[in-house]
Amino acid sequence: MRIAVIGHGYVGLVSAAVFADLGNNVWVVGRTKEKIEKLKKGIMPFFEPGLAEMVKRNIAAGRLHFTLEYKEAVPSSKIVFICVGTPPKTNGEADLSSVFAASREIAKSLGGYTVVVTKSTVPVGTNREVAKILEKFAPQKSNYDIASCPEFLREGTALQDTLNPDRIVIGADSRKAKDLLLDLHKPIDGERIVNSIESAEMIKYASNSLLSTKISFANAMAFICDHVGADVEVVLTGVGLDKRLGRSFLYPGVGFGGSCFPKDVKALIAISQNKGYDFELLRAVYKVNQEAKKRFIEKVIKTLKGVKGKTIAVLGLAFKPNTDDMREAPSIDVIKKLKQEGANIKTFDPVAMDKAREVLPEDITYAKSAMDAVSGTDAVLVLTEWNEFKQLDLSALKSVMRRAYLFDGRNIYDPQKVKSLGFTYKGVGRE
Ligand SMILES: NC(=O)c1ccc[n+]([C@@H]2O[C@H](COP(=O)([O-])OP(=O)(O)OC[C@H]3O[C@@H](n4cnc5c(N)ncnc54)[C@H](O)[C@@H]3O)[C@@H](O)[C@H]2O)c1
Repeated sequence: MRIAVIGHGYVGLVSAAVFADLGNNVWVVGRTKEKIEKLKKGIMPFFEPGLAEMVKRNIAAGRLHFTLEYKEAVPSSKIVFICVGTPPKTNGEADLSSVFAASREIAKSLGGYTVVVTKSTVPVGTNREVAKILEKFAPQKSNYDIASCPEFLREGTALQDTLNPDRIVIGADSRKAKDLLLDLHKPIDGERIVNSIESAEMIKYASNSLLSTKISFANAMAFICDHVGADVEVVLTGVGLDKRLGRSFLYPGVGFGGSCFPKDVKALIAISQNKGYDFELLRAVYKVNQEAKKRFIEKVIKTLKGVKGKTIAVLGLAFKPNTDDMREAPSIDVIKKLKQEGANIKTFDPVAMDKAREVLPEDITYAKSAMDAVSGTDAVLVLTEWNEFKQLDLSALKSVMRRAYLFDGRNIYDPQKVKSLGFTYKGVGRE
């Protein structure tokens, strides 16, 4: 099937590569010449495990194409996926300007029967707005339907998630649109939820908000455990063994970040507010997340009796492992505050340092390895749970440090083992 994908960010490029790999003829539309030229040569705009290989393979096979022109991609495509960004506005609402701009351009290029599908995360009612734009700008006699197909991939495991999703959500009014989307997804396993556009739009926000709620619950438990001598990891393992609950996403740490959870929680609060419902629970989820970062920073400052003039190693910058995405990464707040308090920062992240340079204060030392980063420092902070940090030789690490303080922002080490090596250990909700 010939399809078009608008946007080549995490969602657009991964979806395009996977659909091409499944044998479809995929045209990706971008808006920056330089990025499109790089993509044509197989140079990725971001890091995602396995993606570069899949993109190159499908370019070579003639199934994956990149263009700046909607006219080249849209007219012969049966399905057009809108995969553009929906970042938060200052009031928390989703900024839909890119979705609407893309819709206008798609409309002008519509040819034969086309299903225009929104994959971007958008508030309820957005697809109906897209329909109005198509109606206004599409050529007369053009034949199209709209549909919502929200995306659930996770950065770092995006290819596996797209090929093996828990569910595929399709919201559409027309049977023809539903059937075409079901047909496209035939080679992919996973439960199908075929429903209304409104329900499909809402499932995405509900999922991300509940996942965020679980993380904030774990963090709130950690705040208490810090004060009563309980180990939050043991507590949550005990909780998670209850089959009704499970352990997944009950992760205490320095808070959730990334381009989705903070944005989608804020957007659902705003959607609710606009409909006259004060979603207090989600406001608390957001507040606890902010507090997780604040409490971690306070713990560092208090334990070290101030950080002025001290050198601190930060291991991990990306908001989670296996990605170079720095959007809303907790490391940004932590580093900015420690710098403000007069600390010197040395840091290492396996893949996110280039992206980090664009958002972190300038006077930070970027190291070649974890060992290089901790050398000569007063304390080490682990902010991203990269596997290579879990495997570190902590004795060797300690031997090159000036003082042996370890702040485990992701609870990846065994406190007893770390302490037995002579470190002062502070985890989140456990010591
Ligand atoms: N990143 C994730 O893990 C993830 C997961 C599920 C859903 N989502 C949702 O999917 C959407 C996209 O997220 P992302 O992380 O891929 O964003 P991104 O910022 O990585 O990419 C957005 C892309 O859209 C392009 N774009 C914007 N306006 C355009 C236009 N008019 N024409 C052509 N291209 C245009 C940008 O150039 C960029 O390539 C968001 O709504 C997000 O919430 C993201």
